[in-house]
Amino acid sequence: MAEKFFDYIIHGGDYNPDQWIKTPEIWDEDMRLMKLAHVNSATVGIFSWAALEPEEGIYNFEWLDKILDKMHENGIAAILATPSGARPAWLAQKYPEVLRVEENGIRNEFGVRHNHCLTSPIYREKVRNINRMLAERYKNHPAVKMWHISNEYSGECHCELCQQAFRNWLREHYHNDIDELNFKWWNGFWAHTLTDFEQINSPKSRGENHITALYLAWNRFLTDSHISFYENEIAPLREITPHIPVTTNFMRHYNGIDYQKFASHVDLVSWDNYPHWDKGKNLDEAFEAAFLHDFFRTLKKGQPFFLMESTPSQVNWHDVNKLPKSGMHELSSIQAVAHGADSIQYFQWRKSRGGHEKYHGAVVDHCGHENTRVFRDVTRLGQTLEKLGKITGTEVKSRVAVIYDWENGWAVDAFCGFNNSRRDYVSETVKWCAPFYRRGINIDVISMQDDFSEYDAVVAPFLYMLKDGTEERIEQYVKSGGVFAATYLTGLVDKDDMCFLGGFPAGKLKDVFGIWCEETDALPENMPGKAEFGGKLYDINHVCDIIHSNGAKILGTYKSDFYAGMPCVTKNSYGNGKAYYAAFRNDSDFADDFCRMLIDENEIKTDCGIETADGVLIRKRGEYIFVMNFSDEEREVTLDKEYQNVITNETANGKITLPVCGYTVLR
Ligand code: GAL
Repeated sequence: MAEKFFDYIIHGGDYNPDQWIKTPEIWDEDMRLMKLAHVNSATVGIFSWAALEPEEGIYNFEWLDKILDKMHENGIAAILATPSGARPAWLAQKYPEVLRVEENGIRNEFGVRHNHCLTSPIYREKVRNINRMLAERYKNHPAVKMWHISNEYSGECHCELCQQAFRNWLREHYHNDIDELNFKWWNGFWAHTLTDFEQINSPKSRGENHITALYLAWNRFLTDSHISFYENEIAPLREITPHIPVTTNFMRHYNGIDYQKFASHVDLVSWDNYPHWDKGKNLDEAFEAAFLHDFFRTLKKGQPFFLMESTPSQVNWHDVNKLPKSGMHELSSIQAVAHGADSIQYFQWRKSRGGHEKYHGAVVDHCGHENTRVFRDVTRLGQTLEKLGKITGTEVKSRVAVIYDWENGWAVDAFCGFNNSRRDYVSETVKWCAPFYRRGINIDVISMQDDFSEYDAVVAPFLYMLKDGTEERIEQYVKSGGVFAATYLTGLVDKDDMCFLGGFPAGKLKDVFGIWCEETDALPENMPGKAEFGGKLYDINHVCDIIHSNGAKILGTYKSDFYAGMPCVTKNSYGNGKAYYAAFRNDSDFADDFCRMLIDENEIKTDCGIETADGVLIRKRGEYIFVMNFSDEEREVTLDKEYQNVITNETANGKITLPVCGYTVLR
């Protein structure tokens, strides 16, 4: 059993009572409605700085005292936020350095949110100060159970303070040696050789934007800046409230911060999930959500995570904000729990009356009462979550890992060459996760620096960059019996995007895979090539490696162009293990067919014995088995033995029928 923070599943969401200070009767109504909806938690204070400190040094905590007391009286836990995500106007007016400078060199005016300089000493001091006040005041408040730091850290600032911080960061990382940096960035190209760190600026469209190494360094610097900003925020909380766990909400596809690095700084990983259930491709969306849940869960392996935000209804920021059908919200939330979530939370509890998000879905709509479809959906889910309370803290165990490496993602996006129009690192990774999801096989989503040794198989789509030691660790893993599968464009560059010499994939990997890649072809969208594997013909979409076998068994060959007859899928025995190479990209079912072979040949077992049906995803968490219908039709699943239905407490065996959006939890 992993660490658990609550004995029950947290069900609640972002709550902004400060928007309703003038109508405190609404607060009482909120308490009644929360209990009715089986909501047991609310996250307060996320954007409350102006309400807490209306003028510099003048504080008003009374409203927060009152609401926290009310929450406690009503059995609602508080996740208390620090307010740095949106600063008050007086602060921006008096200290303009707290505002961000855009890439174009212009300082932003006061407005929107998430618009602060990460380096500004004044902003850091002001944040520390308000956080200290909150910690002192509420350190013993019985409602306060967790800290929610700021909100969705993101973005970048190009002010002179940040430029200096970046140059110092570079000095530290390149041993204060400009020649080392020149070599690693290959600055002899286009006469970019530098003589001083002071000559370096952040990447900009009107300045340097063609050196991938600069872009990688800038992203690494931004990650470290966010972490140090966060550490500054939590310093007073660690000192005054060491008993209260700390988290900050990560974002679905935000790639500006390396979450694989940030995660070690939080007590619990939490993230915000907004799937597009309205696109009419629910199974694809479910694969992507599954991948994201597994990614965020694996950031702190062995621990559950929190789903910090989701919408109980529609969002307001798509072009067209279609309402999800009834049942989808429940199924989507249950999927999170199946993948390791110990909380289901919403943005937002009550719709704001004005402002930019007044039409964003909420548990309580502008009508203000409980007689709505969304309120009923949320209530039903709340009742179900109460029945699943014992699952909290239960680990998800996986025998298979898929590598999705954050820094590799930056490099994949940035380099220029081959097919510049299609990289799709996220969707390519999801494509290689889906075959395991289809077959009820749990996976962890790891970085290239994680330990491979505990997995029976590791799949590494598009592992273009190899950070220090990765080549050796893959070699060791396969040598000692591991199964490793890689795809096209593997092992081309080091962590500064400098190419390895001596042929791809780098160094020893040529022996591990028993292949050598001579060239890489890029194919226009409307001119796919052909490749054959397992007696079936596939399109080659966008890109393929032209490889030679140096001892690897050839499992498939190209059927088009001048490389017809050359290998496109290989398998090599190396030491006690096996290394597979899938040299081409295909946008239909090749990844699924390939993984079926991998699973069968290597006898990778499903995590439970239930045979799944098309569009039904099965997931095991501890002793709980979640069977979820993401197809557009009713589905039947045959159970392999007798189970207990955890929600109804009844015995389940034989065939079970799942309606559209239907699910069951068995034990
Ligand atoms: C999140 C954000 C929330 C709210 C929500 C709307 O990204 O953290 O404050 O804006 O989006 O979907």
